Amino acid sequence: MTHRVLTGITTTGTPHLGNYVGAIRPAIAASREPGVESFFFLADYHALIKCDEPARIERSRLEIAATWLAAGLDTSRVTFYRQSDIVEIPELTWLLTCVASKGLMNRAHAYKAAADANLAAGEDVDAGITMGLFSYPILMAADILMFNAHRVPVGRDQVQHIEMARDLAQRFNHLFGAGTDLFVLPEAAIDERVAMLPGLDGRKMSKSYDNTVPLFEGGAKGLRDALARVVTDSRAPGEPKDPDGSHLVAIYEAFADDAERAALRASLQAGMAWGDAKANVVERIERDIGPLRERYADLIAHPERIEETLLEGARKARAVAAPFLAELRAAVGLRRMVAVSAPTAAATKVKAALPTFKQYREADGKFYFKLAAADGRVLLQSAAFESGRDAGQWVARLKSDGAAAVPDAPVAHGDGVSAQDVADALAALAA
Ligand code: TRP
Repeated sequence: MTHRVLTGITTTGTPHLGNYVGAIRPAIAASREPGVESFFFLADYHALIKCDEPARIERSRLEIAATWLAAGLDTSRVTFYRQSDIVEIPELTWLLTCVASKGLMNRAHAYKAAADANLAAGEDVDAGITMGLFSYPILMAADILMFNAHRVPVGRDQVQHIEMARDLAQRFNHLFGAGTDLFVLPEAAIDERVAMLPGLDGRKMSKSYDNTVPLFEGGAKGLRDALARVVTDSRAPGEPKDPDGSHLVAIYEAFADDAERAALRASLQAGMAWGDAKANVVERIERDIGPLRERYADLIAHPERIEETLLEGARKARAVAAPFLAELRAAVGLRRMVAVSAPTAAATKVKAALPTFKQYREADGKFYFKLAAADGRVLLQSAAFESGRDAGQWVARLKSDGAAAVPDAPVAHGDGVSAQDVADALAALAA
């Protein structure tokens, strides 16, 4: 079976080195592995949660799409689309919303951080918090589960969301899977070496921290100017420098090969000036990014080509999503009227076919229980109990421990009933 890899980028800003190194470059590399089927998308519904500037959303979608394509994404091998073109995703979001516990969502980091900030500021806990932010992890779960992705490459800050997607998948499978797994349980994949590309100030490079190095914006000069602002320590030219403590070195190493890494480290230890090191870093990154920049400019100049590519991707994605969603709708009971009688009858039969425990009191004033098969045959008959509570506790134990509890229980088998019949009945009840 093929292995499905899926990841998305929220379209709220201009692509930066962190997006390229942390998401785009490794995702494209993974998409070239044999046996891998990749789904990459623009998370533009997620963008609406954080941004209410239409022009910015529009521009960011264009730039991030152009970046994926300029970086060498082969759209004949992967499915590349906009989240908002897949109408099945908001529909699945609703199905998942109906099984998502509010308590679980209360614990989501993004919501919790906003709520905690409100409390710290003496505001109402939910001041300024939208339902979009609150439900963010459910939409993300729908992105992932819609395509039954096995592996989701993300930054460490997103791991909790993948765990929530697993949780929702498990719950949905349990409620509606009727013994089969509707959803694959996804796993987060974090590349330790690149997941934390530092930004100008050493914190994770992120638009939220405003510490990014733009990938293409401003051209080669933009790259040089941004890298000039990477914070370094105050050691003077000639003084030995510690490469391990340097964000500049970390950024360099996301592009350099082993020999190049060793060379820069040795030069810094031998006293190379930070200014010269920066020139080295700019030159090294430019070697990778320069050629992509031309393709990027060409794509940005032809948005209609990008649009066509994305629409083609949406067609491919929906060819997977639509039939699967039909299956999910049927699983929860949203079925065509004509099909009602048959499946409902069958479902009722399955329910009715379950054995049952019955507790009762006899004329002798004592309490009893029995386990009856669906057809009424008595499988187990209890002895007499002085209290209903004692009888109830044995029923609970037989339900939870199954056949293992039978030898200790004060019960007799019904006529012609084997230990196996009882074990099967208890197992059916437990399921
Ligand atoms: N929330 C992710 C981020 O901000 C983007 C995203 C949305 C995503 N849906 C996804 C990532 C599904 C992986 C899978 O980085």
